[in-house]
Amino acid sequence: MTQLSSPNPPLKLIELAKNIESELHSRLTALALPDNLKESATYAVMNGGKRVRPALTLLCCEAIGGTFEDAMPAAIAVEFIHCFSLVHDDLPAIDNDDLRRGKPTLHIKSGEAMALLAGDLLLPLAFSQLTNEQFNADQQARLTKVLASATSNMVIGQVYDTLGGLPDHLTPMQQLEEIHRNKTGALIQCACEMGAICASAPERAFDAISSFGSAIGLMFQIVDDLIDLHGSPEHVGKATGKDAGAGKTTYPGIIGVEESKKAVKELQKQAESALSVLGSDAETLVSFNLWMAHRTR
Ligand code: IPE
Ligand code: IPE
Ligand code: MG
Ligand code: MG
Ligand code: MG
Repeated sequence: MTQLSSPNPPLKLIELAKNIESELHSRLTALALPDNLKESATYAVMNGGKRVRPALTLLCCEAIGGTFEDAMPAAIAVEFIHCFSLVHDDLPAIDNDDLRRGKPTLHIKSGEAMALLAGDLLLPLAFSQLTNEQFNADQQARLTKVLASATSNMVIGQVYDTLGGLPDHLTPMQQLEEIHRNKTGALIQCACEMGAICASAPERAFDAISSFGSAIGLMFQIVDDLIDLHGSPEHVGKATGKDAGAGKTTYPGIIGVEESKKAVKELQKQAESALSVLGSDAETLVSFNLWMAHRTR
């Protein structure tokens, strides 16, 4: 199968991912849980994800003058929500996938009941990160609000994607965008906004980060749709070539591959121009954005 040409992830992402993984691991290790639940929750999280969302939280905080430490609990929170969404997304009742991040999905390894319950556990675990005393009361409230809203939108998007129920007045193109912005875009935008909140961003900088997150969030799922079409399971670490047969509403399915690639390019530019008010402080985010547009896994 043909692979899209891909730059390697920026070195900074590789370093950041290691840092994030050790934080995820130490939080999971500290939990008092039955062994089987702890093992399954750890399997769901510590299994080779790219860590795009928590990296965005940290980098958006840094772009506004904060440190990685300022944003780490929020970064961990968004990755816990993401991992919970993947475990449930893979279940037989939703996408029925056997492979995730190059390994058997949690329900294949430990059964459906455990996959449901370990996914459930990650949800409160995520929100408990936001009560960390390093955040002031205003930050705790804002972080909780944006993460709760994004998580609800993710669930709404999964319902649209799996069961329908989209508003009738939307055109097919608007429906497509609505699915993608909800199921994937919302959590990525939230990851960025949480970074800005952790850095106590002034309104103008927050708005820039939010617009950046909105553009890359939609872009991320269009690229995911293209990867389903062009990638191999060995390279991507999950089943590919499934969306069309499963009747999924995807960008390449509705507007074709070339138009989908154009949409990716357009959103990448939109994201980059949203960052212009932050000047050279946003350089890492600009290169991260470019890599996200060209990624092949
Ligand atoms: C996959 O997300 C699910 C989508 C929302 C498209 P990622 O591509 O970020 O998956 P991991 O975390 O790297 O495995
Ligand atoms: C996933 O979309 C969105 C989620 C909320 C998890 P997909 O179903 O396309 O993600 P993959 O391709 O299984 O990673
Ligand atoms: Mg899905
Ligand atoms: Mg899926
Ligand atoms: Mg997909």
